[in-house]
Amino acid sequence: MKTIDLRSDTVTVPTPKMREAIYHAELGDDVYGEDQSTKRLEEMAAEITGTEEALLVPSGTMANLTCILTHCSRGEEAILGDKSHIFLNEAGGMSALGGVQAHILANQPDGSICLEDIESAIRGDNIHFPRTRLICIENTHNSCNGSPVSPEYIDSVAELARKYGLLVHLDGARIFNAAVALETDVKEFTRSVDSLMFCLSKGLSAPIGSMVCGSKKFISEALRTRKVLGGGMRQTGIIAEAGITSLEQMVNRLSDDHINAKNLAYGIAQIPGLSIDLDTIKTNIIYFYLTNDCLTANEFVKLCGRKGVMFLPAGLSRFRMVTHYGIESQDIDAALIALRGAMEE
Ligand SMILES: Cc1ncc(COP(=O)(O)O)c(C=O)c1O
Repeated sequence: MKTIDLRSDTVTVPTPKMREAIYHAELGDDVYGEDQSTKRLEEMAAEITGTEEALLVPSGTMANLTCILTHCSRGEEAILGDKSHIFLNEAGGMSALGGVQAHILANQPDGSICLEDIESAIRGDNIHFPRTRLICIENTHNSCNGSPVSPEYIDSVAELARKYGLLVHLDGARIFNAAVALETDVKEFTRSVDSLMFCLSKGLSAPIGSMVCGSKKFISEALRTRKVLGGGMRQTGIIAEAGITSLEQMVNRLSDDHINAKNLAYGIAQIPGLSIDLDTIKTNIIYFYLTNDCLTANEFVKLCGRKGVMFLPAGLSRFRMVTHYGIESQDIDAALIALRGAMEE
C-alpha cells in the first residue's frame, strides 16, 4: 500500500533531474564566495523576483529571521498577523535572538491584515513606546487556507509603511503558489516590499534551502546576519543545483497541486461527518473539519494513517492537507476512499 503523505509539501524528495544536477554541481567554498552553482542560483532568484540580489540560506525559518534581524534593532517592534508562520511556528526567534518585539494583529481569513488595524498599531514618537520598524506579511498564507494575497494588497501595505517610514518583509515561502494561483508574475508581489524570502524546499521539491531577496545594500547586511546565525555554509552547490532545477522545472507544475487540492476538497465535502468551505480552496493547502463527535481529531488522524493517508490535526476538530509533487490524481481518489472508510468505521 502506497502511503499518501499529505502532511506538508516539505515531504517532497528531490526529483531525478535534481539528483543528476547535484552530481554535476560546480563546488567551492561559499563563505569565500567561490561556489559557482550557488552564485548561479542567487542570480536566478534575484532575476525571477525582480530584486537586485539574493542569498541562499538553509531554511525558511532562518530566511525570515535573517530578514527581521537585518531590518530591526533590539527593542524595536515588528507588526505580524496572529496566524503568521513567523509568530506561530518559528520558536519566537525574532524575540529570542534579536530582541525584536512582535505586535500581533488579527489575520483575516484571506491572510490579509486590515490596513486600519495596521495604521492604528503603528507607534507614535513617545519615549514610553517601542519603535515600530517593520510590517511582515505572508503569501500564500499557510494557516489562512493557503490563501494567495494580491499584489494590490501588498502595495497598499507598503504605501502605508512608507507613510510612516517603516519597512515591509514578505514571507513568501510559497510565493510561486500565489503567482500560479493568481496567474501573476512573482515580480508583482515583490515590487513594493523591502525584503522577500521564498522556499525551495516546499512545493518546488528541493531538499534544502530558502532564498532571501532584496536590494544590494540589504543583501550585504543580510550576509552578515546570516553569518551571525550560523548560516554561512561551504560547498552549497549541492543544495543550489537542486534549487536551480526547482526554479527551472517545478514552478509551472504547481497548478497540478492546486487542481489536486480542489478535487480533494470536493471529495471531502461529499463525506458525511466532514465539512469544508470550498470557497477557501485556492492553492495546495486545504483545511477541513470533523463534524461528527464520535471521534477525536487525533483518533481520526491515526485511523486514516492506518489506512495509508497521512495529514495533520490543526485544532480540536480541524485538519490540514497539502498536495505536492509525488501526489497524483489517483492518490487523491485513494485518499478519499480511505477517509470515507474511516468515517464509516
Ligand atoms: C509560510 C511559511 N513561512 C516559513 C516557513 C518556514 O520554513 P522552514 O520549514 O524551511 O523553516 C514555513 C514552513 O512551513 C511556512 O509555511
